[in-house]
Order: sequence, then C-alpha cells, then structure tokens
Amino acid sequence: MAVIAGNWKMHMAPEEACTFFGAFEIDEMMANNEILIFPPAISLLAAYKCEDRDPRVQLGIQNVHWEDRGAFTGEISAVMAASVGASYALVGHSERRQLFGETDEQVALKVAAALRHGLIPVICVGETLEEREAGRVNEVILSQLDLALTSIPDPEARFLIAYEPVWAIGTGKTATPMDAAGAHGTLRNRLEQAIGATTAARTEILYGGSVQPSNATEILAAQDVDGVLIGGASLNPQSFGEITRAAG
Ligand code: 13P
Repeated sequence: MAVIAGNWKMHMAPEEACTFFGAFEIDEMMANNEILIFPPAISLLAAYKCEDRDPRVQLGIQNVHWEDRGAFTGEISAVMAASVGASYALVGHSERRQLFGETDEQVALKVAAALRHGLIPVICVGETLEEREAGRVNEVILSQLDLALTSIPDPEARFLIAYEPVWAIGTGKTATPMDAAGAHGTLRNRLEQAIGATTAARTEILYGGSVQPSNATEILAAQDVDGVLIGGASLNPQSFGEITRAAG
C-alpha cells in the first residue's frame, strides 16, 4: 500500500484530462494503493465529472490561496477547489517557491486554508543542489517543515509530506534510495518530536523527482518512503499505471 500521486503541473487541458482517465484503468495489482491526480485548476471540474475516471482516483489542486475569497486576481481558494472535487492540495511545491517567490510563511497559511476546508495538504519540501552541496539538506527541509507544521494545531488532522529535492525534478537525476531514506527519516523524526509518535508513524512521506517506471520499485522499497509524487511520468496513463503497479 502506497500513495501514488501525479502532479500534472501546467499540462492537460480539460478534454485531455478526461482522455487520460479513459486510458487509465486500475487493475488488481494497483488497487491497494491510494491514487491521486493533481490536474491544473482549470481541468479539475472536468476531471471530477469525467465518467471515465475510476472514482478510486482522487483529485487535488496544485496550489491554493490562503484567503477564502477577495481581490486576488488569478488566485483560487481552497473552498473553491473543494467545491469542484478536490480532496487534496499540494502546498509549497518547489516550482511555486522558486518561480513564484512563495515563502515558508505563505506555505503555512496555505496549509491552514486547506485544512479549514477539508482538503488534505501535501506539504512539499526539498533542497536545491547548492544547498545539498553545502551539506545543508537537513537544515533546509526541517526549517520548511517546521513552519508548515505551525498550521497543524490538531494532531488528528491528516496531512502528507512530499520530499522533492529540487535538483531531481525534471532532470532525470533521482535521489538514491539511500538519500531518500535519509531525508525521509529526518522528516519523520521531526514529526515525532513536534506532533508525536502516532502522527509521525501514520503520516505518509512521498518522494518526488524524476520517478519513472524504471526506478519506482527501488525508490518505493526505501525505508520511510510511503509513496511517490510524479511529474512527467504521470502524464502518460501507461507509465503512471506501471509505477502504480510497482507499488503493489
Ligand atoms: P518530475 O517527476 O517530472 O521530475 O517532477 C516531479 C515533481 O515535481 C512532482 O511534483
């Protein structure tokens, strides 16, 4: 049992989303997993209503604003996302942080907004290559996590963490299973200190960064890796299916 999540980023217009679901079937080997797709916001409703989508494929939004409504041109709130079928919200993806200047403080507000409207936040953390080379992996991912956790007052609230080293995203370079296990262990220890052993044991920590059918099995087998967050390979129903099958 693993969480297999696809982040479509800025791909898949509404019609393409439904075509994907027509070609993605859940067989017995995949059925134990929790399967999530994060379409672009404009395709969420089409994905939700698409008759070809197996209802076991759950949906999420890639980003939310922290306010529920207001003069925020171009933004989408958690309450809006929930009303068109989202059950999850990606928060703090590195592309949001790097390309759109999203800060740890904003990430924390977004986590709170997601929880307020019943969306399960998937909190993304990860270091850049420069930070890794400077030996700062733990410092960076823990400070990202710590601020996000300030928005989780209730230890019963469900949330997920995605460890996505920035240098591994879309580059074809994957963290080794040992690198992933190390970072995931660090994050889980911090969860244990901050929220307690039960929450730490229950919270799924996903790995993301160039996950492909060819490397999914070894990544998913690494210690403390409870699932994967897939970009490029989630756009193709066959490769997404193969990865889901690899999780057993
Ligand atoms: P890739 O799988 O394309 O490297 O993207 C990973 C990612 O950013 C998922 O959120």
